[in-house]
Amino acid sequence: MEFQDKYADFFETVHPDYFDQKLFVPGFGCEESKYALIGEAPGANEVKQGKPFVGRAGKRLDEILSNIGVKRSELYITNLVKVRPPNNRNPTKKEIAAWAPLLREEIDSVKPEIIITLGNFASRQMLDTSKGISQIHGRIFTREGLKIMPTYHPAATLYDRSKGPELEKDLRKAFQKEESGQRKLDDLT
Ligand code: URA
Repeated sequence: MEFQDKYADFFETVHPDYFDQKLFVPGFGCEESKYALIGEAPGANEVKQGKPFVGRAGKRLDEILSNIGVKRSELYITNLVKVRPPNNRNPTKKEIAAWAPLLREEIDSVKPEIIITLGNFASRQMLDTSKGISQIHGRIFTREGLKIMPTYHPAATLYDRSKGPELEKDLRKAFQKEESGQRKLDDLT
């Protein structure tokens, strides 16, 4: 079913100021996934292709997923705000509030075992905190019955390469793909 049909109740009520169809990108991926990834807002490439995380940040995410051995098709990927903010500015509090009920519906529908919030905006919203991502990344929190792991936004690792290994480590933990001592031993035999 098309995203906008599936969540028709929301789209009937969203204020038109916050819903520019031409800049809209829906959530995408496995609708029964154990894992939901939440980004910030779509960029120009995402709008062009109509899918989240297909630009530079998405390619970075793909590289890391491939290192870990997780396929994108196994995941549900969405954004806090579904419409591209002009000039790539940060989403506003009002935009986040306008799209929050839809995010909640997506989570209720997918029922992921764990939610991975990418970057400050999604992490602060989902955890209702003002703490910065470097303070809280890689820990698993429970809030309103949801298991949530905040981690760095893949785009942040493009500007600061040192964050790449940390993002990969966090994702390994979330996907339970940590390299165990036992696995390393098995590899030798
Ligand atoms: N950054 C995001 O937060 N989301 C996207 O979909 C693309 C880039």
